[in-house]
Order: sequence, then C-alpha cells, then structure tokens
Amino acid sequence: MVLKAELHCHVEGAASPALVARKAAKYGADVSAFIVDGRFVWHDFTSFLRAYDQASALFRTQEDYADLTEDYLLALSAQDAIYSEVFISTDHAISAGLSPRAYIEGLAEGMRRAKAATGIESRMIATGLRHKGPDAVMEAARYIAENPHPLVTGFGMAGDERMHHPRDFARAFDVARDAGLGITVHAGELSGWESVANALDTIRPSRIGHGVRAIENPDLVRRLAEEQILLECCPGSNISLQVYADFPSHPFPALARAGVPVTLNSDDPPYFHTDLAREYDIAAAFFGCDDGALAEITRTALKAAYVDETTRNTLI
Ligand code: ADE
Ligand code: ZN
Repeated sequence: MVLKAELHCHVEGAASPALVARKAAKYGADVSAFIVDGRFVWHDFTSFLRAYDQASALFRTQEDYADLTEDYLLALSAQDAIYSEVFISTDHAISAGLSPRAYIEGLAEGMRRAKAATGIESRMIATGLRHKGPDAVMEAARYIAENPHPLVTGFGMAGDERMHHPRDFARAFDVARDAGLGITVHAGELSGWESVANALDTIRPSRIGHGVRAIENPDLVRRLAEEQILLECCPGSNISLQVYADFPSHPFPALARAGVPVTLNSDDPPYFHTDLAREYDIAAAFFGCDDGALAEITRTALKAAYVDETTRNTLI
C-alpha cells in the first residue's frame, strides 16, 4: 500500500453527480443539461467550465460545503491519502449567494469532520478565476489576505488560461504572497510553454498547476529543474480535456527524468472519471513508476505542501 497526497483538487470539481443531484432535489433545480445517466456531460474546456459552474451553483449554504468537503476527504482517505490541498473559489460562493466567510467556515467544518473520522490532514488554496479578469482576481486575493484563516495556506489562479497575460495578475499574487500564502498558478495546460515561462517570470510561484506543456521547450524544463518548481500534474484530466491524445504521450516521465519535481493529482475527479488512486495506477501502468517511485512522488508533494513544519513533520 502506497500512501498518497494530493496538491491539486478543486473542491467544487470534486462534487459527484450523485451529490449534485441531491442538492438539485433540495433546491428544486433541473440538472438535465449537464448530468445524463449519472455522469457529467461536456465536450471541451468551455462546456466543462459551464457544467462545473452550473453544478457549483447548487452548493448554497455553509452546510452544503461542509458536506461536500467531508464527502471528498473521506473518499480520499479510503484511497490511502494522508494529505490534500483543495482549491477553493470565493467567486463561486458569492455567485451562489453565500458569503466568503460562511463558505470557508463550511469547508473548514468538512475538513475537521474528515480529520476526526480518519486523521486526514487538509488545507485550502484560495483561487481567483482568470477568465473573470485581473480586478476579480485582485478582489479574491484581497479578501483572503484581509481575512486570514489557519486552514487557508495558499493562493492560486484557475479558469481559462487562454485569456489575459500572467503579468495582469502579478499584483494580486503580490498581495497574497505578502499575506504569507504559498503561490501556485494554473499554466501550461490549455496554452503552451510560453504560458508557463510568463507565469514564472511575472507571478513567481513555487508550484505550477499542470505545467506539463513546459515540455515543449527544453530550456524551460531545465529552468524548472534548476529552480525546483513543482508541477501539480493531473494526467487523467489532461487526457479527458485532450491536452494529450493518450497516457503514453503524456510528458510526466520525461519531466521526472529531467529532474522536475512532479506530483499526481485528480483536478476535478468525477468530471474526468478519475480519483487519486487512479492517477497513481496510471503512473504505475504508463509512466514506469514502481511502489518506491510512487512513495517518492507522495514525499515530493508533502515537501512542497503549503503546510506548517510541525504538521509536515508528522506526515513525511
Ligand atoms: N478549474 C477547474 N478545473 C480546471 C482546470 N483543469 N483548468 C483550469 N481551471 C480549472
Ligand atoms: Zn486545476
């Protein structure tokens, strides 16, 4: 049995179709546009984001979020995971009519319940949404900087990478960094290596969400290895979103061989018909990882986690 750790899972994206359907019944909403035969339906990144936003809109109370977080973490613990960092989005809460404070309290309550039941540790990474633009991302950063919570330890940016330039968000990330938060940003998923290089130059993250398309430039791969920038790789997500045609074409093994710190993550598990255990299975089946290599991937994640040293030392 290999212990696992996850650094990249969006909490709204972890809601199963069954849980979303229960919330829809609670609120009298129709989900037939994006759940068919118990599965989320979408066909490209834009329709994925639409389905994701519609499902997220059905989480409307502090208790809805406690439920969702507990559900995800209990399932993760059953996969032998000992640690998780979840991306959270105050924008989604606000859109659903929930205050950021109640949202974060709900998430924290779910984390406390899961820890009490299984021992799993978890933290939150607040995110801004790139497609909402620099002002919205600044607002998300300011909220989290001005309202610190002990379980919110990082700041990131998700959403449509094809919009805006990373430099447009540099000031928002400065606000988050000055508040002591760890910095990660999605790049090199929908866009190529330049997107990763620009994010490194302007946002100065310690980790990159995805980042796999750095493989398109050998100098950039060398830079990632030299600077030990960790990539939060999500192979199942990449195949579902057709970033790569199949697992044998995925650059995970080449990046690892080049000395880039790489980890395994589920991103939005039910949307991509995956979970963390499947990601580790994929690495065993397609990337040549034996149990020793998989355990090392978990250690790599824990070393780069945005968590206090005392907790880290209990995990590694
Ligand atoms: N938000 C949720 N999943 C995402 C992904 N794979 N890329 C960008 N933003 C996201
Ligand atoms: Zn992601």
